[in-house]
Amino acid sequence: MTELEAIVARHSVRQYEDRPLADDVVATLQAAVDEANEASGLHIQLVTNEPGAFGKGLAHYGKFRGVSNYFAICGPKGAEAEELAGYYGEKLVLLAQTLGLNTCWVALTFSKRAAHFELAVGERLIIMIALGYGATQGAAHRSVDASKVARADGEVPEWFANGVAAALLAPTAMNQQRFRFTLVHPGVEGEPMRVQATAPRGIQTKVDLGIVRYHFEVGAGKENFIWA
Ligand SMILES: Cc1cc2nc3c(=O)[nH]c(=O)nc-3n(C[C@H](O)[C@H](O)[C@H](O)COP(=O)(O)O)c2cc1C
Repeated sequence: MTELEAIVARHSVRQYEDRPLADDVVATLQAAVDEANEASGLHIQLVTNEPGAFGKGLAHYGKFRGVSNYFAICGPKGAEAEELAGYYGEKLVLLAQTLGLNTCWVALTFSKRAAHFELAVGERLIIMIALGYGATQGAAHRSVDASKVARADGEVPEWFANGVAAALLAPTAMNQQRFRFTLVHPGVEGEPMRVQATAPRGIQTKVDLGIVRYHFEVGAGKENFIWA
């Protein structure tokens, strides 16, 4: 499964089978976590066989059942780290999908007190991603029209439309899809096309922005543009 196929196949899954992650899957994910931390300065932790954060026993968190594995995405305070959390977290989500796993981003519906993670000085828990063998594969979300999230003056290249389509398949908090991609023609012959990605202030909109940026890169092809 390619990353683009993973983008199409992925939906949030909140109920999981009672089955530990295979050893080789854990090793692959851990290597990807190490790489992401190195590249981003985040402190992402893969936690396995830990049912407490999602309500072992009587407590239930939203529609979540059977969650024993998660990524705890920790890092510095501020909006920049939130966007990085989205970008590198979604890269892990798509990798997990290619490994036959399912995922769900989680901002609220877990016990922060029960969750296992370590913080270095100046760090905080930014967000979590639940992970495991899904009881189902989930279902496609409703999407806003591409015209609501994309702006381009002049001709719209196919790669830009493909990037926007991939972004619209991305998970966003409460499926809010509050982001905007703007194509900026260079004006000078031979200069690369630029794309500006923005999000308004709001709940988790910076994490969402990082997530949709990652999808846009996969859909559009990184070789076709530079970020403005
Ligand atoms: C930043 C972020 C935070 C989220 N927080 C929660 C959460 O606390 N509880 C929950 O059940 N789903 C949460 N979700 C999952 C979204 O509801 C879901 O991604 C959205 O409805 C789109 O559906 P899809 O992921 O199946 O495409 C979150 C998603 C994102 C991106």
